[in-house]
Amino acid sequence: MMSRTGRLIGIASGKGGVGKTVVAIGLAQALARAGRRVLLADGDLGLANVDVQLGLAVTHDLMAVLEESVTLEAALVAHESGLHVLPGRSGSGALATLDASWIGRFAGLLRMAADRYDEVVVDIGAGLDPTPRRLAAACDTLLVVATDEPTSLTDAYAVLKLHRRDAPDADARIVVNEAADMTQGGRTHAALDRACRGFLGRGVALAGVVRRDPLVRDAIRHQVPLLTRHPASHAAQDLERVAQALLAA
Ligand SMILES: Nc1ncnc2c1ncn2[C@@H]1O[C@H](COP(=O)(O)OP(=O)(O)O)[C@@H](O)[C@H]1O
Ligand SMILES: [Mg+2]
Repeated sequence: MMSRTGRLIGIASGKGGVGKTVVAIGLAQALARAGRRVLLADGDLGLANVDVQLGLAVTHDLMAVLEESVTLEAALVAHESGLHVLPGRSGSGALATLDASWIGRFAGLLRMAADRYDEVVVDIGAGLDPTPRRLAAACDTLLVVATDEPTSLTDAYAVLKLHRRDAPDADARIVVNEAADMTQGGRTHAALDRACRGFLGRGVALAGVVRRDPLVRDAIRHQVPLLTRHPASHAAQDLERVAQALLAA
């Protein structure tokens, strides 16, 4: 049974550049295709680039909403994929990091938005700084994106460890991205699961494996979301599976 209010799904990572934005956009689009009302929010304050990957023309951004110079509705961009997008930055430049009260305000805004959507997908910045950490703690479900690179694994473990401390009962799962194949992706998850079991006393679930796929870069280069440009690609199908698994659970 789905709860009446929508779900906040955060997409985080330890290491940067592992595909958070690709996963956030693809997952949001797959959820929209499954009939869910979806808001995609760019919460990567330092490196906001959802607008770039989607080719959005942005007038107002998240900061304007937080400053209350515009309403949430005025800042939202309706994308042709069916998504509503809350951009992280406008032409006026990237955001600085937020202090604690602003992060709280942002989390409150997302929670309020979740009353009007079925799913709110938040692209959260990489790393262990207070901003991504607090945003992650505000989510109902946290997807930690990792690749099989050792640094990505150790950093993903660090995110999971802190998240357990911040939100002990929250639902956190792993998305393995840029996997050579499903078997290798499964091994990457198994390594993280083992570390969590051994050092944190409880394992971590797998949300899904997304294969490395040259068509991801092609879609980004054309600023068209993957599920629109290459719906039959391996990576698109894998993202659809992540969405289906989230809807089933
Ligand atoms: N599944 C994938 N297959 C191939 N390349 C990918 C895949 N996912 C991400 N990439 C590449 O990695 C780059 C970084 O992805 P991005 O989503 O911007 O990472 P992040 O948001 O974590 O910084 C993309 O520009 C793309 O070229
Ligand atoms: Mg990103």
